[in-house]
Amino acid sequence: MDAKGMEPTPPNAPRAVTRRQMIQGVIAAGVTVSGAAYLLRNGQTVLGRGPLPGSVERLITISVNGQPRHVDVMKQETLAMTLRYKLNLTGTKLGCDRSECGACTVLVDGVPRYSCSVLTHTVRNAKITTIEGLAAPDGKLHPVQQAVAEGQAFQCAFCMSGFIMATAGFLAKKPSPTRAELAHGISGNLCRCADYNKILDAMMHAGELMRRA
Ligand code: FES
Repeated sequence: MDAKGMEPTPPNAPRAVTRRQMIQGVIAAGVTVSGAAYLLRNGQTVLGRGPLPGSVERLITISVNGQPRHVDVMKQETLAMTLRYKLNLTGTKLGCDRSECGACTVLVDGVPRYSCSVLTHTVRNAKITTIEGLAAPDGKLHPVQQAVAEGQAFQCAFCMSGFIMATAGFLAKKPSPTRAELAHGISGNLCRCADYNKILDAMMHAGELMRRA
């Protein structure tokens, strides 16, 4: 027994972990995993000593906003990375980078897709539309863009381009949705300001503008 009347802990016995230690461990693990993902993202080894095996870039052509774009991509490269960091189309945002928030939504053959979870080389034969390519060639805003501008629908607006692309894709297939149908249709997009009512007001107005056009 020690001075507090406790039995001494045997040398090989499992140690009790305090709540503080457990939280510190979880944070440290998260930093390690996300840091490794970042360092590996460009096909480099963790120490930056060159490409990973099989990560060689290949020149491919993809159709973005009606233009053929020639770009060197790695086979594990996501469309979001190609768009943002190789084609400088930074209107496509990266939020979670794991198919949860929808900030990176673009249209692939007219269908809203999370570009963080699409490998670039798999969309070689598809037509990709980003927020930069949504307006008409003469500069006239797409009805969803127009409705968002009129309704001032977003606060921080980080999620805005993803919402616009998701809504444009949804309304193209279902131009007269009920509010509940539209809410369900774009429920894959999250707003960190939680301004959903205002967003839905604007998106319903976008439907009206599309029907009038
Ligand atoms: Fe792609 Fe969140 S960044 S879904």
